[in-house]
Amino acid sequence: MTTVLAALPYRIDVHPAAASGAELAEDARAGLCAPFKELPPKYFYDERGSELFERITELPEYYQARSELSVLRGIAPMLAAGHEPAELVELGSGASRKAEPLLAAMMDGGADVRYTPFDVCPEVLLSSASRLVLRLPGLRVHAVAGDFARHLHELPPPPERGARIVAFLGGTIGNLAPEDRAPFLREVADLLRPGDALLLGTDLAGDPARIVPAYDDAQGVTAEFNRNVLRVLNRELDADFDVGAFSHVARYDPGPPWIEMRLRSLRRQTVTLRGIDLTVEFAEGEEMRTEISCKFTREAVEEMYAQAGLELVEWHTDPRGWFAVSVAQLAGPGR
Ligand code: SAH
Ligand code: AVI
Repeated sequence: MTTVLAALPYRIDVHPAAASGAELAEDARAGLCAPFKELPPKYFYDERGSELFERITELPEYYQARSELSVLRGIAPMLAAGHEPAELVELGSGASRKAEPLLAAMMDGGADVRYTPFDVCPEVLLSSASRLVLRLPGLRVHAVAGDFARHLHELPPPPERGARIVAFLGGTIGNLAPEDRAPFLREVADLLRPGDALLLGTDLAGDPARIVPAYDDAQGVTAEFNRNVLRVLNRELDADFDVGAFSHVARYDPGPPWIEMRLRSLRRQTVTLRGIDLTVEFAEGEEMRTEISCKFTREAVEEMYAQAGLELVEWHTDPRGWFAVSVAQLAGPGR
């Protein structure tokens, strides 16, 4: 038997800063030395963290993934027909499960389409790119590993013909600090030309009895995901966090409204991060914030768009009104 190895139609660029670890060192020092300790959520997502997130999306409590996917499946043909897109850029693409129906609709009729997933985790990009080119023959994939808050300029130029759709799904916009959201969307708007579109997934505000269990599941997968950030620090910064000495906390704050994930120290303990020559004390019961996950209303999304020079043109939710996918374009004459 002869084995033929064909050149695979995908490419993965890794931004040097995404691989260096210098930023993690800086963020860990700042976050662990602050009076209220905090770590940025992007550090959940090493290879294991990305796998844990995939498991979260399959949990009965995590309605967000199923709700959003059902909306996307419903609107994909209309989106493809209305915009004639030649490229789908996806920020924070993870396993790219939600891109699949969009890409299939875009390629319907034999159109030449490029998928440009952008994620901080190179391993998840590799596995999703190899899966997608097998499932959607003819698709070209140009993946970029980097931080979407800092390295959007690393994206390849838009296609010469046809529209670009930029997707930011999953509700990941809600993981950004409130003051960072509009500036981030302004940078995303810079990726768009008239006729292009942004597709944004937002988890909707509502009953905490529905939202809280999505972040505190019965199987404890979210707790493992939360604690994974400590494993990342242990490995990358030669730290000695006793992962079992921190418990998972998911707290609903109706003010913003958002879910805060925290890690609570089960005892008084001292942690050493040899890689950055830092010693940190935790009091018994002390909590460290690891993520916010904001829940939105349509008005809040419209307000965010307005601040970023964007305009809401479509609003779609699942039948229960739990999750929204909106389409935005450049506001005013730019549209
Ligand atoms: N969009 C996918 C995955 C959501 S999980 C879905 O809806 O299922 C959030 C994704 O964003 C992860 O894959 C994570 O690696 C990525 N991510 C988080 N912070 C990031 C950052 N600052 N820059 C780039 N990617 C980031
Ligand atoms: C990626 N992001 C939108 C998820 C969320 O729901 O905020 C991350 C997550 N955290 C805990 N579970 C899922």
